[in-house]
Amino acid sequence: MKDSAKPAFGTVLTDTMAVAEFRDGRWQAHHLQPVGPIPMHPAAHVLHYGSECFEGFKAYRGKDGVVSVFRMDKHIERMRQSARQLVLPEPDAAQLAAMVREVIGASRAQVPESPGALYLRPMLIGTTPNIGAAATPSGTALLIVLASPVWDYFAGGAKPLRIFVEDEKTRTASHLGVVKTGGNYAAALGPTLEARGQYSVDQVLFCPGGTVQETGAANFLLLREGQLLTRSLDNSFLHGVTRDSLLTMARDLGFRVEERPFDVPEMLEWVKSGEAALSGTAAVLAGVGTLVTRRGEHRVGSGEIGPVTQRLRKALVAIQTGEAPDTRGWLERV
Ligand code: PLP
Ligand code: COI
Repeated sequence: MKDSAKPAFGTVLTDTMAVAEFRDGRWQAHHLQPVGPIPMHPAAHVLHYGSECFEGFKAYRGKDGVVSVFRMDKHIERMRQSARQLVLPEPDAAQLAAMVREVIGASRAQVPESPGALYLRPMLIGTTPNIGAAATPSGTALLIVLASPVWDYFAGGAKPLRIFVEDEKTRTASHLGVVKTGGNYAAALGPTLEARGQYSVDQVLFCPGGTVQETGAANFLLLREGQLLTRSLDNSFLHGVTRDSLLTMARDLGFRVEERPFDVPEMLEWVKSGEAALSGTAAVLAGVGTLVTRRGEHRVGSGEIGPVTQRLRKALVAIQTGEAPDTRGWLERV
């Protein structure tokens, strides 16, 4: 497909979604139905108190035409953890996996060839109609799996990104960073639009208190030949499956992989000669060309996407699309 014919990320859905309802204290049997509006009571818990979480992962079409989903179990586990932390009914792992497989099955013809993929989007919402339930969990919920044929997340494709280093505003409440909930994205939107307007950046790297954390929709890695540095896991940011995959691959390639907190001055020192990149299902591994702070601009390495970033991205995509052997059991044929 020509670049100009590729829809923007997430704007097109396939025809079929899977739906399951939680009521009477248990998950009911799920079913497939055409994608379309869902009935929603205006007092539904999610519409007032934000009881929502979601996931995002991809199925790939290999050169042989076989469709495989990447690390679905990790994403389902993260969704269950998000649900627990938001006191929403926890999806049943086997049922959610079946819903995803059935949506992929129904959407098989719409799975693009690489570098496209089918993006899977499970979402969970609290539906109890009660506008007084600010401090009461929703006793009923809907679990829906959507699918969308996607290409590049960042407009401009393989261009090095311009990133604003935000050391004043936070992305979300510190204990919720680890939860994939809509409210976190709503909270990051204002600071992101402001930085875009003021500094013409693509994304914001949140560095609360001067400690580097993550961007609005991806984790952040520093790279150089044989070395990788990223923030160690804590509750303040999302534990990316792509991050975990890249760290595993880098360790296997003999990289020195460091997971620890680091601050803005250390990052700016690193990028004088090293590389920086965003990692995520949507972002894959996207190279950063410029870091912009309130005090000035810092070119990352040569300003182009670095060689280590390119190599790791290629190696990851090769596994996802079945071009390289899947030695770790990350792919499930669907
Ligand atoms: N951080 C945030 C805030 C995200 O939205 C995402 C995307 O899902 C990630 C990190 C990367 O996570 P993953 O690699 O599991 O897609
Ligand atoms: C993902 O990488 O899956 C994301 O969640 C990014 C998204 C918010 C579009």
